[in-house]
Amino acid sequence: MENVVLVGPMGAGKSTIGRGLAAVLKRSFVDADAEIEKRTGVDIPTIFEFEGEEGFRQRETEMLRELLERENIVLATGGGAVMRPENRELLKQHCVLYLRVPVTEQFRRTRKSRRRPLLNAAGDPRKRLEELFRVRDPLYQEVATIVLQGRNQRVRDAVRAACEAL
Ligand code: S3P
Repeated sequence: MENVVLVGPMGAGKSTIGRGLAAVLKRSFVDADAEIEKRTGVDIPTIFEFEGEEGFRQRETEMLRELLERENIVLATGGGAVMRPENRELLKQHCVLYLRVPVTEQFRRTRKSRRRPLLNAAGDPRKRLEELFRVRDPLYQEVATIVLQGRNQRVRDAVRAACEAL
């Protein structure tokens, strides 16, 4: 079976649900952002600080390419992984779960985070999440094999729904 990839905005629960799903499916769980941090030895905000968003996107593209060569993994991606067309083409070759969480919920789950440079920059983080969602929702939809939303927001329900849908 192809790899299972979780996409969706910051605060959608990609890592939490991905980990649960991997345990149920008895597959390895991999988090793309954590792999980038491991590889570079610094955290994501530091990469943004020194290399800018473009530098981070380049690392992200390379990491996705490398990780998706593996087999039978469950992969959590960063919220912006769908921005580059080449990434979308790659993602479409796998089973992609889109965690479609409302902006209010994204905001609630990310408001205390200091690890998300796009939200920690100047400006209103809720507006930023709204803007990002407007731009990215169609892109997540474009690559999605399955869209999980509505009642499936609790981890247990989401994992169950994902397993049923796979
Ligand atoms: C980003 C989301 C983050 C991380 C980076 C950029 C984005 O990942 O990749 O800060 O562009 O939405 P999470 O979705 O895991 O927070």
